[in-house]
Amino acid sequence: MANENTLQNIISHCKEYGFIFPSSEIYDGLSAVYDYGQYGAELKKNIRDYWWKCMTQLNENIVGIDAAIFMDPKVWKASGHIDNFNDPMIDNRDSQKRYRVDHLIEAHAATLPNKDGEALITKMEALLATEDYAGLKRLIEYTNIKCAVSGTANWTDVRQFNLMFSTDMGSTGDDADKIYLRPETAQGIFVNFLNVQKTGRMKIPFGIAQTGKAFRNEIVARQFIFRMREFEQMEMQFFVRPGTQKEWYEKWKETRMQWHLSLGIPPERYRFHDHAKLAHYADAACDIEYDFPFGYKEVEGIHSRTDFDLKNHQQSSGKKLTYFDTEINQHYLPYVVETSIGLDRTVLMVLSEAYKEEDLSTAEKQDSRTVLKIPALLAPIKLAILPLIKKDGLPEIARKLMDECKLHFKCFYEEKDTIGKRYRRQDAIGTPFCITIDHQSKEDGTVTVRHRDSMQQERIPLESVKQMVLDSMAIKL
Ligand code: GAP
Repeated sequence: MANENTLQNIISHCKEYGFIFPSSEIYDGLSAVYDYGQYGAELKKNIRDYWWKCMTQLNENIVGIDAAIFMDPKVWKASGHIDNFNDPMIDNRDSQKRYRVDHLIEAHAATLPNKDGEALITKMEALLATEDYAGLKRLIEYTNIKCAVSGTANWTDVRQFNLMFSTDMGSTGDDADKIYLRPETAQGIFVNFLNVQKTGRMKIPFGIAQTGKAFRNEIVARQFIFRMREFEQMEMQFFVRPGTQKEWYEKWKETRMQWHLSLGIPPERYRFHDHAKLAHYADAACDIEYDFPFGYKEVEGIHSRTDFDLKNHQQSSGKKLTYFDTEINQHYLPYVVETSIGLDRTVLMVLSEAYKEEDLSTAEKQDSRTVLKIPALLAPIKLAILPLIKKDGLPEIARKLMDECKLHFKCFYEEKDTIGKRYRRQDAIGTPFCITIDHQSKEDGTVTVRHRDSMQQERIPLESVKQMVLDSMAIKL
C-alpha cells in the first residue's frame, strides 16, 4: 500500500512540476499515452544521450543509426511479428473487460501467500511456454480468479491478439497499402546491416545502436509510463561469429548491469530474470529488473537472437546478407546479441530512485521537503543561479555567471521569492546545485553553493562554479 502511494505521489509530482502529463489532457487524456513536459523532456534526453554516448562513443566497434518508423510490411512478416507478436488474452463476458492472461494470473498470485503465489506463477509459465491456452483458461477457472470490475468468473476462451498498430500508406486505403508502426526499433538495424557494415568497413564483432519510438497496442496498459502504447526504445544489435554468441551474451549482461549501476542505483535494487518462455527469435534471454514502487519489473532485455532475423530477411528479400570473415576465410550469417532498454521505463526508474519525501522537522518547527535526487549528469537543470535581491548589482553578477555556464550545461535563473522557497522549487525538479549571489560576492568574489542532497552550504570562488558542475557530471563507468 505504501508503495502504491509512492507511485501515485510520483505521478502527481511529475504533473505538478512539468515532467510528465497525460496526452491530450484537456480532452481527458488518451489511455497509456503521455507527453513529456519541460523538465521531463530534458531528463529523457539526458538519459538517451548518456546511453548513446556509452554505446557509440565508448565502444569503437559500435555505430549508431536512425532508421524510419515506417518500413516495408514484408519486414514484419519476415521478422515473425505478423504471425507471432501476440499476447494471450481473455475477456470477462459480464464487464466486457479484456485482460492479458499473464497479468491477470500474476495479479491474483500477488494476493496469495508467497508459496501459493509462486506455485501459481510456475504453473502459468509452463502453460505459456507450451502455448496451452485451454490449460490457461482451466487454471484461471480452477483458481477462481474473478474480474476486478464485474466480480464474476464468466470468462471467454483464451485468444491471441496482435500488438501491432497499422495504418494506410497512399490514398486508396485498400489492404495492399497497409503498413505498420514499428513495434521495435531492432528491425531497422537488421535491414541496414549490410549498408552499415560495407560503408563503415565494420569487422565482426561489431554493433549497431539506435534509439527511437516504438508502438504496441498493449491491451492492458498501466503503471504510468511503465507500459505505454507509444514509447521509446534504445536498442543495440551486436553481430558476432556463430558459435561465440553465448560468450557475448554473458559479456553484454555484465556490461549492461554496469551501466545501470553507473546511474548510482545500488545493486540490491536490480536483479536478473532468465526467461522461461523464449521469444520466437531467441536462444537465450534475460531481463534486468528494477525494484519499482510496484515490485521488480523489467527495464531492459538482453537477447541472444541467433541468425533468426538476418536469415529470414535474406530469404524474404532475396538479397544476400552474409558477411565474409577474412580471419577464417568464411562467408556466414552473423549471430546477434541484442540489448534492448525502454527509455520511458528508465525515466520511471530514475524518478522512482530519486523521489524522496524528507521530514526536516526540528524541536522548534515542523518542516518537510520533496526532493528528486537525480544524478547530476541526468538532472534536467544542473545549476540554479539566484541573486539574493533584485538590486545593488547582484543580478548583473548572476547574469555574467549564467552567460559563462549556459553554453556548457542547462542553467536556471531566478530572482523572485525568498531564497528558501527558491531552493525548495529547485529540490523538486532535482537541480543539484544552487548558487546564491549576495553582497559579499561583490566584495570578495565568492558565492554560496547549496548542495541539493545534503542541503549543506559553503562559500566558493565565483570562478570555480563552472568547473564544480562539470566535475559532478563526469561519467563514472
Ligand atoms: N527488440 C526486442 C524488444 O523489443 P522487448 O522486451 O519486447 O524486446 C524491450 O522490449 C524493452 O522495451 C523492454 O525491456 C521495456 O523496457 C521496453 N518496452 C517494451 N514494451 C513497452 C511498453 N509498452 N511501454 C514502455 N516500454 C516498453
